[in-house]
Amino acid sequence: MTARTSTDVAAQYATDTHLRRRMLTHERYTVGPELKPAVDAALALTGTERVVDVGCGSGGFLGRLRQQGHTGPLTGADLSPGMVATAQAAHPDVVYVQASADALPFTDASVDMLTARHMLYHVPSVPDALREFRRVLRRGGRFLAVTNTDGYMAQL
Ligand SMILES: C[S@@+](CC[C@H](N)C(=O)[O-])C[C@H]1O[C@@H](n2cnc3c(N)ncnc32)[C@H](O)[C@@H]1O
Repeated sequence: MTARTSTDVAAQYATDTHLRRRMLTHERYTVGPELKPAVDAALALTGTERVVDVGCGSGGFLGRLRQQGHTGPLTGADLSPGMVATAQAAHPDVVYVQASADALPFTDASVDMLTARHMLYHVPSVPDALREFRRVLRRGGRFLAVTNTDGYMAQL
C-alpha cells in the first residue's frame, strides 16, 4: 500500500462520504467471516468499562455498544473535525472529541479498554500512538487493534 501524507488523510476523512461508501462496499461484497462478532468476542466487555475508540470515524461502533446496553463511559476520538461532528450528531449518548492518536486528551491510567480499529495504518508514527495508548490505559486495561492483512480484499 502506498504511504499517504497527512494532507491525503485529512482530505479523505474531511466528511464521512468516502468512508460511508467503503463501508457499504464491505457490507455488500466482503467474503468470509463477519468481523463484528469476532471484535465483540475479543472485547468481552461487561458493560461498565470506560471505553475509548481512537480513529472512531462516524461513531457507529460506540453507538452500537450504547444501544446494546453499555452503561460505562464511551468516548470516541478522531483527528477529523468532520467525523467528530457526524458521530456526535448520530450518537448523542456518546462523547466524541477531536484528537490525534498520539496526543489524547485523557489523564494517565484512566481508560479500561482502548480500541483502534482500521486506523493505525494512518498514524504518522505507530510507536508514538502505542505509547500514548499505554499512557491512558489503566494497569490491567486492555487494547484491541483491528488491522488489515496482506490478502485483505483479495476477492474484490
Ligand atoms: C478507515 S477510517 C476507520 C473509522 C472507524 N474506526 C471504522 O472502523 O469505521 C480511519 C479513521 O481514522 C481517523 N484518523 C486518521 N489518522 C488519525 C490520527 N492520527 N489520530 C486519530 N484519528 C485518525 C480518520 O479521520 C478516520 O476517521
